[in-house]
Amino acid sequence: MAVPVIEVVGLGKTYRLGEVTVEALRDVTLSIGQGEFVAVMGSSGSGKSTLMNILGCLDRPTAGIYRLDGKDVAEMDKDALALVRSRKIGFVFQMYNLLPRMSAIENVELPMVYDAVPGADRRRRGREALGSVGILDREHHNPSQLSGGQQQRVAIARSIVNSPSLLLADEPTGNLDTAASDDIMGIFQRLNDERGITLVLVTHEPDIAQFAKRILRFRDGRLVSDEAVRDRRRADGDGHGTAGKEGTPAEDGGEAG
Ligand SMILES: Nc1ncnc2c1ncn2[C@@H]1O[C@H](COP(=O)(O)OP(=O)(O)OP(=O)(O)O)[C@@H](O)[C@H]1O
Ligand SMILES: [Mg+2]
Repeated sequence: MAVPVIEVVGLGKTYRLGEVTVEALRDVTLSIGQGEFVAVMGSSGSGKSTLMNILGCLDRPTAGIYRLDGKDVAEMDKDALALVRSRKIGFVFQMYNLLPRMSAIENVELPMVYDAVPGADRRRRGREALGSVGILDREHHNPSQLSGGQQQRVAIARSIVNSPSLLLADEPTGNLDTAASDDIMGIFQRLNDERGITLVLVTHEPDIAQFAKRILRFRDGRLVSDEAVRDRRRADGDGHGTAGKEGTPAEDGGEAG
């Protein structure tokens, strides 16, 4: 069997602030294979972001093991982790996190600047990424000149520009209305279907989770359920239309119709 992209065993995270101890994650064991599309749900404070930060190698667990592509993350030094973060993992956040004084294309090029990709290459790959999320016509707009949904598209373009194999999104539709949210979910489905990018996405909204193939639910830092999605929702391919239901089983990763 193939090595899972993500494998955590007995994962725990305890925060200590003076006298107060918070067990943000407790004994979490799960694995996520290549090409999966997983939604993470749970009430506020249940540990979702804590988990995402650990999966993204932005933070370390206080207990348990995290293997990324079969490698124990605890054994990687700072440089190795930085490399993993820039090459292997893409991040998308609720607040988009775009630099306000830079244009869309400049924002998308940033990860490649850090990666020392030559200028001409950067521009070509940046435009390609903007094109793949349908927003190349706004390449010279600053974030303040874009709608929330457009800003999130730019953020997604930025997250995929280094061709990551894993995309982590923490409430990426949290600030968007229903139509924009469905568009964004369509883009994620396409990245999952067409490029085989593994996706882990936090959401509070059941409607959004239905775009995924599998749902993990957390309560008080514990994983309390892990289920395949039935009646998976499908956005149409171009990300501009309305989403509908599809009748195929959750395991079927192919396009409907
Ligand atoms: N840096 C920190 N220091 C101390 N406690 C923290 C820290 N980060 C998170 N916590 C605590 O850990 C618990 C889990 O927080 P986390 O941010 O993972 O929740 P969440 O599920 O993402 O919630 P939300 O849906 O509101 O984003 C909370 O009780 C929170 O107060
Ligand atoms: Mg959170």
